[in-house]
Amino acid sequence: MTRPLVIVGCGGFGREVLDVVDAVNAIEPQWDFLGFVDDGPTEDNLAIVDRMGHRVLGGVSWLDQAPPDTAVFIGIGDGAVKERIDKAARTFGLDSGVLIHPTASVGALLDVAPGTIICAGVRITTNVRIGRHVHVNLGATVGHDTELGDYVSVNPLAAISGNVTIGARAMVGTQAAILQGLTVGMDSTIGGAAMVVKDVSENVVVKGVPAR
Ligand SMILES: CC(C)(COP(=O)(O)OP(=O)(O)OC[C@H]1O[C@@H](n2cnc3c(N)ncnc32)[C@H](O)[C@@H]1OP(=O)(O)O)[C@@H](O)C(=O)NCCC(=O)NCCS
Repeated sequence: MTRPLVIVGCGGFGREVLDVVDAVNAIEPQWDFLGFVDDGPTEDNLAIVDRMGHRVLGGVSWLDQAPPDTAVFIGIGDGAVKERIDKAARTFGLDSGVLIHPTASVGALLDVAPGTIICAGVRITTNVRIGRHVHVNLGATVGHDTELGDYVSVNPLAAISGNVTIGARAMVGTQAAILQGLTVGMDSTIGGAAMVVKDVSENVVVKGVPAR
C-alpha cells in the first residue's frame, strides 16, 4: 500500500526530491505523489511542473486539507524555513517519512528522523544519527558516529568525517570537508569547498582552506 506524499517547494531542489521519490517507487511502489505545495511558485517553475505532468496544489495552508497520513517532504534548503514549514505541517496533524535514494548506502545503526532526504550516491557509514528534515545531497559522505541536527542541509559532495556533530539548521556547502571529531554550531554556514579543521561556533559563516 502506498502513502500519500507532498513536496513543499517546486523549485530546483523540490523537483530533485521528486526524482528520489520516483527512484524509490521504481524499486517498489511506496509513495503516491499528490503534487507540490508552494507559497510563491515562479512562472518558470510552474511551467516546468506542468511539463512534468504534475501540479502545484496550493500554498502551505493547503496542507490543512491533505489526506490523513500524508507525508510532507520539504524541498527547500534553508534550515530556518524547513523548521517553520515542519511546525506548520505538524499543526495540521501531518508528519513525514524518510526518503533514501536506492543508490545511497547506509551502514549499521542509522537513526534517522522523519522528513530526512538522502539523495543519490550518498555514503553514510555506521552509527550515524540524523534529525528531522535533514537533506544529505548528491554524493555527500557522512562518517561513523556523526550526528546531524534537525534541519541541517549537507550540499553535494561534502565530506563529513567521523565523530562530527553538526548543530540544528547548519548548512555544509558543496564540496566542503569537515575533519573528524569537530563540532559545527547551530545556524552556522560552511562555505563551498571549505576545509574545516577546528570547531565552528554558532551562527557564523566560515569559508576557505583552512576555514575561518
Ligand atoms: C560562503 C558563502 C556562504 C558566502 O556567501 P556570501 O556571504 O553571500 O558571500 P559573497 O558571495 O558576498 O562573497 C564574499 C567574499 O567571499 C568570497 N567567497 C564566497 N564564497 C566563498 C567560498 N565558498 N570559499 C572562499 N571564498 C568565498 C567571495 O569571493 C567574496 O570575496 P571578496 O570579498 O574578496 O570579493 C557562499 O559563497 C557559499 O559558499 N555557499 C555555499 C553554497 C552551496 O553549497 N551551494 C550548493 C547548493 S546545492
